[in-house]
Formats: sequence, structure tokens, C-alpha cells
Amino acid sequence: MSTVDLEAKIPNNVGLRDNKRLMRALETWQPSFLQWWKDMGPTDFNEDQIYLRTAVGVGKGGWAHFDYVKMPDYRWGIFLADGAADRKIHFGDHLGEPVWSDVPGEHRNRLRRLIVTQGDTEPASVEQQRMLGHTAPSLYDLRSLFQVNVEEGRHLWAMVYLLHTHFGADGRDEAEAMLQRHSGDADSPRILEAFNEPIDTWLDFFCFTTFTDRDGKYQLASLAESGFDPLARTTQFMLTEEAYHMQTGENGVGRIIRRAAELMRDGQDPRAQGAIPLDMVQKYVNFWASRSMDLFGGEDSTNASESFASGLKGRYREGDGIYKDPKALGAQYKLAVPDGETMQEREIPLRRAMNALLLDAYHADCRRIVQRWNRDLESMGCDFRIEMPSTRFNRNQGVYGHYKFAPDGTPVTEAEWTHRHTDWLPTHADRDYVKSCMHAVREPGKFANYIAPPAMGVNDQPIEFEYVKFH
Ligand SMILES: [Fe+2]
Ligand SMILES: [Fe+2]
Repeated sequence: MSTVDLEAKIPNNVGLRDNKRLMRALETWQPSFLQWWKDMGPTDFNEDQIYLRTAVGVGKGGWAHFDYVKMPDYRWGIFLADGAADRKIHFGDHLGEPVWSDVPGEHRNRLRRLIVTQGDTEPASVEQQRMLGHTAPSLYDLRSLFQVNVEEGRHLWAMVYLLHTHFGADGRDEAEAMLQRHSGDADSPRILEAFNEPIDTWLDFFCFTTFTDRDGKYQLASLAESGFDPLARTTQFMLTEEAYHMQTGENGVGRIIRRAAELMRDGQDPRAQGAIPLDMVQKYVNFWASRSMDLFGGEDSTNASESFASGLKGRYREGDGIYKDPKALGAQYKLAVPDGETMQEREIPLRRAMNALLLDAYHADCRRIVQRWNRDLESMGCDFRIEMPSTRFNRNQGVYGHYKFAPDGTPVTEAEWTHRHTDWLPTHADRDYVKSCMHAVREPGKFANYIAPPAMGVNDQPIEFEYVKFH
């Protein structure tokens, strides 16, 4: 087991105390991070006491500590999951070789790009959500938002640690650049499109944490298989925190759906009650699910093939032995691609289809979430069903990016798309309406009328617990 140093300026279990150079480098970056948090993080809540969990170790069960804390005083730490002794690379061309604890020279650029791309998403989401606190539907939800925000901040630390430790001067430059790009900035935007979309309502936030954080889960999970051991161990621990983000999303959308269904059951029109009609929720699901599917990259990708071949990024749960061939050679992946008016099945070598495989796993996971929402609708006697859009719908990236499809994946013409896309994606009027429902509720245990209370509170506290104490 690694030793956890909680007293250090930067809490860690990576032995910072014994590596003075690295410690100085990170302590130099720390004030820039704090300045970024104040400039670009949640507005106006930095003096309030938030009931937050803080990672204090990596042991199963007891890894987190809950207490009131002002966000700028949050103890952002660097934690790697404990490594297994003589771990071997378990996929790709280096199969069976010992894992790397230092960056292998020939994979340096690819690895740096993987880390920077992942790292860039972490502060991006904090920036996207910075205004949301002002309209939180309850103290419980306000706390959830800030929990997610501080942990995304810690995930940035995790990636910056790798850059500083393993990439020398380039890594330090990349770490600086993480704080200079900003979500939605015209000159210096975040790297990936979904992380430049505004998140200005709580429906957007919950869809984002359901669908976009879940993309994060799949990216992190495939990096957790990496032959570069520090990356594998960092991302393994990040996944522990990520689970809560996705749960916040799934429960949040679920509670909005439940509230609409409750009102309908009572013979009310959700719209007349400041709640969100289910067909509007569906449009937001369509939007965020499709934006998030774009994050997987091209279905047919030589880049993905090389990341796999070089042992840097594995398949989802690669280490569980669920794939027949750990080298993924010889097999083909079948992909339906548009060909004029029809769809043609094309075979691509499995290694080039790594993004498509990961997207398939993600899509199956999303369908399970949607089914849970639908079971709730069914139990309330409501006929409406939410549908997970097809991987083809509304894509800007990959083989479907140049074509139009209905949410169920049926090809449509440009003319049909123009005519019908307002049935499928949020319109300006929908967005205005959802915005009009947003207003802050700050009495403990009370909730805005568009969202049902959660099934339980946080860390065994009651729902009416004072999760935020305003200064
Ligand atoms: Fe994250
Ligand atoms: Fe997250």
C-alpha cells in the first residue's frame, strides 16, 4: 500500500516529499490553479460552507472524508490507485512485456496527446457550469454541483501531475495551457466540441453528467488498461469519483422525468406548473447524447488503432479477459455506412474500430440508464418512453457526420431534416422555456417544482440536511 501524505501542501500518495523538484514544480502551478478556480470556477460561492467529500486515500471503502469546506480551501490531492506487482501489458503489440513506469520514447507524443485531451475536459466542465449555482433547485443539488466541480478540479490535478512528472518542459507548458484555454472562448477554446457547449440550465447539467461524464468513464476506463502504469493507476482512481458524477446525472434527469409524470398523473399540465414536459426532456437527451457520442472520435481510425497497438489505450474492461484475442488481429468490425440512398455494410479491421467498439459499450450503458427512467414512468402509469438516440443521429464526427438521420437511425434527406429537426432537438423556444423554470430554492429540504426530491440524502444525511451554509 502507498503512503498517503495528507499534511503536505498538496495531499498525495505519490511520495512528493521525496521528489523536491517535482514538488516545487507543482507548488508553482498551484497558485495558477487557484487563480483559475476564482476566475473561472463557480461564481460567488467561494465563501460558503459546502458539505463536500474529499479524497483522502485510495483504500476500498474508506477513501473519502465528508465535511463542510469552502471550495477554495478544498484539498485537491494527487492519488494513484495502488499498483499490482509485476503488472504486464495485456493487449496490443507489447503483449506480455512489463508495464512502463516511465514514458517509452517512441510513444511519447501519442501519450502526451491522450493525457492533454483527457485533462482539458476536466477544467472545461467546471467553466461550463460556473453560473449554475445561482439557480440550484435545492441545497442538495447545489452541493452535488460543487462536488462534481471540485472533483473535476482534482482530475485536472491528476493529469497535470502526469505531465509534470513525465514530460519535462513540454509537460509544464501543457499544464499551463490547461488553464489558458477556456470553454467557449472564441480564440482559445477547449479541445473537444461538447466542452464548449454552454450548460446554463439544470436539465443541461444533468444530461451532461449522464451522457458526457459517461463518455469520460469510458475514456478513463480504456486508459485504466494502459501499459503506461502511472496513467492506468491515476485513471483507475478517477473512476471512483466519476461514478458519483454519472449518478448525479442519472438521478437528476430521472427526478425531472418523475416530477413531470407525477403532475400528469394528477391531471396537470407540467408546463402550467413550471415543470418540464417529457418530450422536451427527450430533446435534451437527444442533444447531449449525440454531442457526447462525437467525443469517441471516428469509428474507423488509424489513430485509435495505433493507441491500441502501442499498448496505451485498451478496450473497455480489456483486463477482465472478455475479449478472445488480446492483440485484436485478424478480426473485422462490421459497420453500416451510408452509400448514396442506402446503407452498406463495411468491414474494417478490428484495431481500426477501437473507437466504434468503445462507443458500442457506451451506447449499451446509456440504454440501460434510459430503461431505468422508463421503468419509473411505467410504475407511475405514464405511457411516455424516453429513447436513447441511435449512434447515427445528429453526429458531427465520424462516418455519420456528413449525413442526416432520424433519432432511430433511419436515413433522412436534408429537406426532411430541415423540416423535422425541431421535433428532435431543443429549439430556442424550448431552451427559453427550460430557462424560465430555473430558479434557486435555498430552504433545506425544499425543491423547485420541476424536480422530484432524491430517494436519499448524501452520506446518510437526511434530504433536508443543510448541505450548503451561506456566509
Ligand atoms: Fe473528471
Ligand atoms: Fe466527471
